[in-house]
Amino acid sequence: MSNFQERVKIAKSFGGASDSYDVSARLQRFSGKHLMPWLPNRHDLTVLDLGCGTGFFTDILASQYEQVIGLDISTKMLNFAKQKRNKAITWVEADAFKLPFADNSLDFIYTNLVIQWCEPLQDSLNEMMRVLKPGGLVAFSTLIDGTLFELKSAWKQVDDDQHVIDFRTLESLESAVNQGAFRLLESKQQDVILEYENVIHLARELKGLGANHVPKKRNKGLAGKDKWQKMETSYSDFQEPGGVYPATYKVYSGLLVKLSD
Ligand SMILES: C[S@@+](CC[C@H](N)C(=O)[O-])C[C@H]1O[C@@H](n2cnc3c(N)ncnc32)[C@H](O)[C@@H]1O
Repeated sequence: MSNFQERVKIAKSFGGASDSYDVSARLQRFSGKHLMPWLPNRHDLTVLDLGCGTGFFTDILASQYEQVIGLDISTKMLNFAKQKRNKAITWVEADAFKLPFADNSLDFIYTNLVIQWCEPLQDSLNEMMRVLKPGGLVAFSTLIDGTLFELKSAWKQVDDDQHVIDFRTLESLESAVNQGAFRLLESKQQDVILEYENVIHLARELKGLGANHVPKKRNKGLAGKDKWQKMETSYSDFQEPGGVYPATYKVYSGLLVKLSD
């Protein structure tokens, strides 16, 4: 399947979750808020929220900047955002790999938990580089290797299919973002451990976020009852004393600048 076809599927998966997204977005809220200290102080800026989802952070950006654009590949996410958010925001349905903006036209790109879906990452970074003005900034967050290791390990006891997407290693991410005209000015890494009542609760949250599309999964159907039960039993090795099920998210945030020629 081509990268474009994969992106259509990702859009569909997120679109199907637009109504439930905001109640399931604990991690997104956390990582998005941690990008706030990197927001530029000037207000007369043109700002893009790339992969804006339901527009929660686009709304916050709109309270600070003159021109704010919320862009997403999913029609349903955008429809939700249009109804709920600040009417001054411009909403654009487009792919991060083909941004409908002129070269050197934006001052700041905010992109919270999106680039882990962008493959090949270098192509989407090049596109951000193209549309940013020299001196422009990108504040991004993503997930790195080790994310959902409990779920990965539990599935490994069951079969050798891929049930969780591949997350980049720290080294590969840092070398990808520190290329061409981009320089990584600042970065931070946080392990966020969320708690779940049971494994179904975790699976529902991932589905509610639209983050359940796994491109390399061979068996596209739902896992059978036996497999699921085996996975749940394996996951209970990680259960905490109070009975809760932890899931680890390794959140990486970075601030990039586009150098002048
Ligand atoms: C985890 S959600 C994050 C949404 C939002 N940034 C937030 O903080 O709540 C990822 C979003 O990225 C969008 N997305 C994924 N791939 C994309 C692409 N190639 N181009 C544009 N948007 C994309 C999805 O449709 C989804 O709305």
